[in-house]
Amino acid sequence: MEGFMLLIFCSLMVSTVTVAITTDSITLGQSIRDGETIVSAGEGFELGFFSPGKSKSRYVGIWYKKVSTRTVTWVANRDAPISDHSGVLSITQQGTLVLLNSSNYTVWSTNVSRTAKNPIAVLLETGNLVVKDGNDDNNPENFLWQSFDHPCDTLLPGMKLGRNFKTRMDRFLSSWKSTEDPAPGQFSVWIDSNGFPQLVLREGAAIQYRAGSWNGVGFTGTPALKPNDPVCDFKFVLNENEVYYKCDPTNSLVSRLWVNQTGSIERLILSSQTKTWLHAYSAPVDQCDNYSFCGANARCETNSSRVCSCLEGFVPKSPEGWSLSNWTEGCVRRGSPLDCKNGNEFKVYAGFKLPDTSNSWFNTSMSLEECKEMCLRNCSCTAYANSDISKKSGCLLWFGDLMDMRLRTDVQQDLFIRMVNSEQGNFRSVYFSF
Ligand SMILES: *[C@@H]1O[C@H](CO)[C@@H](O)[C@H](O)[C@H]1NC(C)=O
Ligand SMILES: *[C@@H]1O[C@H](CO)[C@@H](O)[C@H](O)[C@H]1NC(C)=O
Ligand SMILES: *[C@@H]1O[C@H](CO)[C@@H](O)[C@H](O)[C@H]1NC(C)=O
Ligand SMILES: *[C@@H]1O[C@H](CO)[C@@H](O)[C@H](O)[C@H]1NC(C)=O
Ligand SMILES: *[C@@H]1O[C@H](CO)[C@@H](O)[C@H](O)[C@H]1NC(C)=O
Ligand SMILES: *[C@@H]1O[C@H](CO)[C@@H](O)[C@H](O)[C@H]1NC(C)=O
Ligand SMILES: *[C@@H]1O[C@H](CO)[C@@H](O)[C@H](O)[C@H]1NC(C)=O
Ligand SMILES: *[C@@H]1O[C@H](CO)[C@@H](O)[C@H](O)[C@H]1NC(C)=O
Ligand SMILES: *[C@@H]1O[C@H](CO)[C@@H](O)[C@H](O)[C@H]1NC(C)=O
Repeated sequence: MEGFMLLIFCSLMVSTVTVAITTDSITLGQSIRDGETIVSAGEGFELGFFSPGKSKSRYVGIWYKKVSTRTVTWVANRDAPISDHSGVLSITQQGTLVLLNSSNYTVWSTNVSRTAKNPIAVLLETGNLVVKDGNDDNNPENFLWQSFDHPCDTLLPGMKLGRNFKTRMDRFLSSWKSTEDPAPGQFSVWIDSNGFPQLVLREGAAIQYRAGSWNGVGFTGTPALKPNDPVCDFKFVLNENEVYYKCDPTNSLVSRLWVNQTGSIERLILSSQTKTWLHAYSAPVDQCDNYSFCGANARCETNSSRVCSCLEGFVPKSPEGWSLSNWTEGCVRRGSPLDCKNGNEFKVYAGFKLPDTSNSWFNTSMSLEECKEMCLRNCSCTAYANSDISKKSGCLLWFGDLMDMRLRTDVQQDLFIRMVNSEQGNFRSVYFSF
């Protein structure tokens, strides 16, 4: 009898405890009010209402549960704040998440193309808030919606940065306006798929910094963000369906890629001892990272006595400006302009960031020899290179001016720049390496 009582007591205890345990999901008929949160199953992430900095506005966001200085990784209503503590987040019969204010006005909602029978929103241990049809379907392909498809200023491990050519979905990061305002700010990070895709930081619409194109080994414009990095396993995928960059977790390190309000791309790692964020690396680094700092057909070398110099065969467009360290005009071809008759020699360069590829053409299955032929056949082609140096394959062609090159001795990639024939006597067999 005593045992029986004890059993009842215990099961009562268990059921009370179960009610008190925070859930990781929102189901039909349930909602989250300001003050309530849901927590991912492994307690890595928490979702709820918050006010950034000294702001009084309320936002729905996701943050690290175990990091004491609140670090928000995603915001739902980033440009539609709620003015009081009466916001309610819930899920509709169709499977859309809706955030209402006290006038029952829809402040923010998700957009789903397909409706659900048994919708449920779950905060996953990866920090991804997903909407699924039924709790059992864990195939990401079948998610009705996921916050990972709508990044704010943070790229978490497992998130894709880039474009799906079929659905036209483009996932990019955008900085907060300020520490008090998560609305999209001036800076954004994209995989720009004009020409051969490259990773760029934009200020407004203008490119501010290029981490550059992916050459099979890394981005040619940054020593960081490589595969087999101790932080995470970087992947770059380009096929007819999509182009994306992502970092998959390799170990227990907690890391994030973040674009801050002043346009710095930062890789941060959580110190397991102090639970504070350590800087692994950031970009842009110096003046040579400023997009086109030296203008056209020039190269930038930060620690050189002369920061900018023209490529061989080119001269400063404005010698006067150049002598005053005003590099903006860049360089132009010396002597006769390039044309099909006199431009069939190439000079090979190694050891620098490849030029801007936004005005380039590529074919990932051509050989370097075919690539050269292709360049020679087009009078406006100015340079070529392999698109993938890990496989020594693929063809990348540039047209017109070559923009935004800088010294990067660790880039083991040859770039073949077209020269007018008159130059060839001097330079034919010279292998430029800088
Ligand atoms: C709810 O949002 C609407 C639209 O922004 C606004 O007009 C209304 O005043 C808000 N209600 C409250 C109580 O803030
Ligand atoms: C908002 O909707 C709820 C539920 O439908 C209702 O009980 C409440 O009166 C509504 N509030 C306003 C201000 O319309
Ligand atoms: C929802 O999706 C439709 C169709 O894809 C699109 O036209 C519409 O602008 C989207 N609405 C929002 C709020 O994103
Ligand atoms: C952004 O990061 C850079 C580089 O770490 C730093 O100099 C700058 O102060 C940061 N800006 C803000 C607003 O934190
Ligand atoms: C880089 O460009 C930014 C914006 O164009 C400018 O404010 C900054 O001074 C430049 N930095 C250097 C080192 O030239
Ligand atoms: C330039 O010199 C500084 C100081 O010696 C060094 O920290 C930095 O890495 C150098 N930059 C490049 C691009 O070599
Ligand atoms: C540099 O040259 C450009 C073009 O000639 C000019 O518009 C600009 O004002 C110059 N900058 C400085 C700082 O002199
Ligand atoms: C790429 O090159 C291969 C080999 O030359 C060729 O078969 C293929 O048609 C080319 N693709 C495009 C899109 O040009
Ligand atoms: C050369 O390439 C440019 C840029 O891709 C293209 O517009 C032009 O038609 C090409 N010319 C020839 C002769 O193939």
